[in-house]
Amino acid sequence: MLEIKRAGHSTLTTPDIERMIDYFTRIVGLSLTARDKNRAILATKSGVEAIVLEKGGAAEATRLSFQVAPGSDLGEVASRLKKAGLKSERQSDITPGIGEALVFTDPKGTTIEVFSDFTFTPEDHNFNGVMPLKFGHIAYQCPDVQGIVKFYCDVLGFRVSDWRSDFFAFLRCSRDHHTVNFLRNDKTAIHHIAFEVRDWSDIKRACDLLARNNIKLTWGPIRHIIGHNIAIYHHNPDGVVIEFFCDMDQMFDEQLGFFEPRPWHQDRPQRPKVWGDETPSNWWGPMSRSAPHGDPGAHKPAAAPAPKPAERAPALARKREEKKTTRSKAKPRRR
Ligand SMILES: [Fe+2]
Repeated sequence: MLEIKRAGHSTLTTPDIERMIDYFTRIVGLSLTARDKNRAILATKSGVEAIVLEKGGAAEATRLSFQVAPGSDLGEVASRLKKAGLKSERQSDITPGIGEALVFTDPKGTTIEVFSDFTFTPEDHNFNGVMPLKFGHIAYQCPDVQGIVKFYCDVLGFRVSDWRSDFFAFLRCSRDHHTVNFLRNDKTAIHHIAFEVRDWSDIKRACDLLARNNIKLTWGPIRHIIGHNIAIYHHNPDGVVIEFFCDMDQMFDEQLGFFEPRPWHQDRPQRPKVWGDETPSNWWGPMSRSAPHGDPGAHKPAAAPAPKPAERAPALARKREEKKTTRSKAKPRRR
């Protein structure tokens, strides 16, 4: 098993690379660090590569990179992958910052690039856009959520933070509540990409900036219940859902096994668990109910590889359940 430390960058294909470079630099506030006709590398202002754009037919997240401990021997990492029955290939010049990586495909068809060392990008003195701290997490839709969760835990070393019922999994590889999400749907596709910002005032600044550029929020500001992050969502020019978030639950100590205490947690202590299907998506903020993941009422309960069985329905969920409206029954939820 590997010990993934963090997500590196996500590679997105786009039919209009110029439009996406403009969006990621002027709106998101990433730095364009390298580009040619068909490819562009974008990094946070702190100098960490976050997004790679590649010219393609449709907007897809084809590749995802992960970092293992600096100084790790990639040959030894390849042996561990082989032991897990996975063939990997060593490749060079992944990006300007990543010289070497082990490349393989995960069970849903995403190319994974595992690297141990990288170089920070040159300083960019242009301050513009939202300027997130980092590439925070990526959510995929796929048919076999249990299978992909098992792979990420058993092979890559992720831990399950939470499940919503048996169809939406939140996995961590660091203290952050989730770095990858998997949501059940018939076909495999990107669900959303999220960037972490510093705090609530950065969320407010992002709302103003998006409005000034005539980009409508599609959801938020909200505080989620699962993960407890404050979040806003919008569509980028390719139609991919982009989230800016702050205040996500943190697991400071894996041995202690609970997320850091907060006044808004439903359980005390808040441990990884299976949340009931009826759990509301957010604690506060607008409750939009249109969702791309299909009808949640259609799934059948199954034995999920979850960390713990559901302990009890959270108090808010019970209250909401009592007041359940026909509107919430009629439309699927997002998360
Ligand atoms: Fe998210």
